[in-house]
Amino acid sequence: MDKIRWGILATGWIADQLAEAITSQPDADCLAVGSRSQESADKFGDKWGIPRCYSTYEALAADPDVDVIYIATPHNLHYENMKLCLNAGKHVLCEKPLTVNAAQAQECLDLAKEKGLFLMEAMWMKFIPAVRQMQKWVANGRIGTVRLVQANFAFNIPFNPHSRLYDPELAGGALLDMGIYTSTLAHLVLGKPARILSAARLGETGVDELNTSIWEYADGTQAVLTSTQRLERPCDAFITGTQGYIKLHENFWHSRKLTLKQSGQEAEVVQVPYEGNGYGYQVREVHDCLRAGKLESAIVTHADTLEIMTLLDEMRSQWGLLYPNE
Ligand SMILES: NC(=O)c1ccc[n+]([C@@H]2O[C@H](COP(=O)([O-])OP(=O)(O)OC[C@H]3O[C@@H](n4cnc5c(N)ncnc54)[C@H](OP(=O)(O)O)[C@@H]3O)[C@@H](O)[C@H]2O)c1
Repeated sequence: MDKIRWGILATGWIADQLAEAITSQPDADCLAVGSRSQESADKFGDKWGIPRCYSTYEALAADPDVDVIYIATPHNLHYENMKLCLNAGKHVLCEKPLTVNAAQAQECLDLAKEKGLFLMEAMWMKFIPAVRQMQKWVANGRIGTVRLVQANFAFNIPFNPHSRLYDPELAGGALLDMGIYTSTLAHLVLGKPARILSAARLGETGVDELNTSIWEYADGTQAVLTSTQRLERPCDAFITGTQGYIKLHENFWHSRKLTLKQSGQEAEVVQVPYEGNGYGYQVREVHDCLRAGKLESAIVTHADTLEIMTLLDEMRSQWGLLYPNE
């Protein structure tokens, strides 16, 4: 494989970020973009120097020269967009959450396997150097045995019932958009909990605007995770062990600064490297996997993606939140 030839499906906010990350990789060819409208595809193509601009997602998926498609639509569309791309024989990097629920995720992961294609959820946080450093400190016992993970993802986003975060038709709500980061962080450090206790405040449109979950483990270890789209507070995370703690400074999912506080010692504040807009790490992971002929990343594994989706399902089921067509 010479250059990896990318197609970008959708032209919204995150598509722009990934276009920047992809076009800054020397071995990437950002070849095509697909949108619901020709005008938007052309505008995006002009901005990023993308030569092939399609007015439908189907036309993008049918381009025989595209190796891998990055899906950047609202959550509710990931399932059908992924099936379109996989059935067209394309490798896929799909925005988080992979799908709205675990059943849909299982279907897409199975389809990728059946077709012999690479599929990864764009959980970029797992590649950020600060998160990797935290994992190393935990693995090396720098804070003893972890007993508590706390993470907050909290922004006050103006209410608009038709916007992606508030519209149930677009699978709005804080958990699937933001809580997936707090959940992935806890899962990364502690794995699957034995029990979850979760509560949410559902807003005018019926989606969760505030949710908090306690994850409990067999030995009493806990994670306390909050996500909200209606309140603002620092978005930090703490990993606390029997001999100290690690703080991922805000915003924890793309943190550039860590504090390591070991019992009986001064706190150490460490600035961690951060490249570009932070999305290039996952783009390089896709390249490495494709070049090695791998069908899944060893960092964002299919099993982790699926297990986290089942935990998100469990939280939503405790509040009685189902999306249309579920
Ligand atoms: N990794 C991250 O840091 C990060 C950050 C933000 C969002 N995300 C994820 O990325 C996905 C998209 O989020 P975003 O913030 O980029 O959303 P956005 O700005 O609203 O863009 C979504 C795009 O999807 C396409 N689309 C297709 N059907 C649509 C519909 N019914 N309503 C609205 N848009 C529709 C549109 O592109 P066309 O008109 O070109 O078809 C639109 O521009 C979400 O799943 C979200 O979780 C990830």
